[in-house]
Amino acid sequence: MSANLRKGRLKTALAHVIILADSYTHCLSLLGLLTLANMIEFQHVFKSYGRGRNILADINFRIEPGEFVFVSGPSGAGKSTLLKLIGGLEPASRGSISVNGHRIDKMPPRARPYLRRAVGVILQDTHLLYDRNAMQNVMLPLTVIGLENSVAITRSRAALEKVGLSGKEDMKPIELSGGEQQRLAIARAIVNRPAILIVDEPTANLDDETARRIMEVFRDFNRVGVTTLIASHDRGLMASYASRTLLIEAGRFADVKGVPA
Ligand SMILES: Nc1ncnc2c1ncn2[C@@H]1O[C@H](COP(=O)(O)OP(=O)(O)OP(=O)(O)O)[C@@H](O)[C@H]1O
Ligand SMILES: [Mg+2]
Repeated sequence: MSANLRKGRLKTALAHVIILADSYTHCLSLLGLLTLANMIEFQHVFKSYGRGRNILADINFRIEPGEFVFVSGPSGAGKSTLLKLIGGLEPASRGSISVNGHRIDKMPPRARPYLRRAVGVILQDTHLLYDRNAMQNVMLPLTVIGLENSVAITRSRAALEKVGLSGKEDMKPIELSGGEQQRLAIARAIVNRPAILIVDEPTANLDDETARRIMEVFRDFNRVGVTTLIASHDRGLMASYASRTLLIEAGRFADVKGVPA
């Protein structure tokens, strides 16, 4: 082998080592970022609507990356309000809220799209687009970020399949049952693989078997690291799935291991 060839091979090998080392450190720094990300933290958070009473008063908690947490309490206690604060859909009246490593109470409006990508929100009111079909509804978050159409279709189809809506791609929300509309909203929220999922009463309109199937969809996401927060009244469901519950009741707030007694 000529000296030049040997030199050339050595150079190539060296380049590979550098690339490997580089991607290794890149991975490490990504890991570092990931541990910061996915986390939700409330510090002395207050929320009132207009000049009304405090719905939430001096709320403090921290949800670590990858946790699966329930929010519970009677109707009107403030569960949806809490989830809306995390999703950036309502501003806090006071206090600091960090989501995915960002102070969202200090986030300028132009940074909001970032939050919408990081946090998948499924509200009680599904906010589906009634003039579009199921497939178009699910594709919307992917179209917004400019994903190529064929990729968006494949991913949307997979999301619809995950929630048991295969074959209903062409149907408008109005042609779907209440539970199916709810599942469509879930497909739309998971299709762009958010780091955090917040879900308001996901099983309210579902029979027991479908409810469990939907809970398993959330569980699957949670298993691959998605931090999940679910507001629910369903004690049976919570008994099966809850390892931690944030309880809001008559202005009081409690952070309970498992399900509240
Ligand atoms: N946009 C709003 N303007 C004024 N008051 C509001 C608004 N949204 C919610 N509220 C009030 O805040 C309180 C808490 O509402 P929230 O929807 O957070 O309760 P919840 O615990 O989710 O109840 P439910 O179990 O019935 O869904 C209620 O008294 C409600 O009337
Ligand atoms: Mg609610």
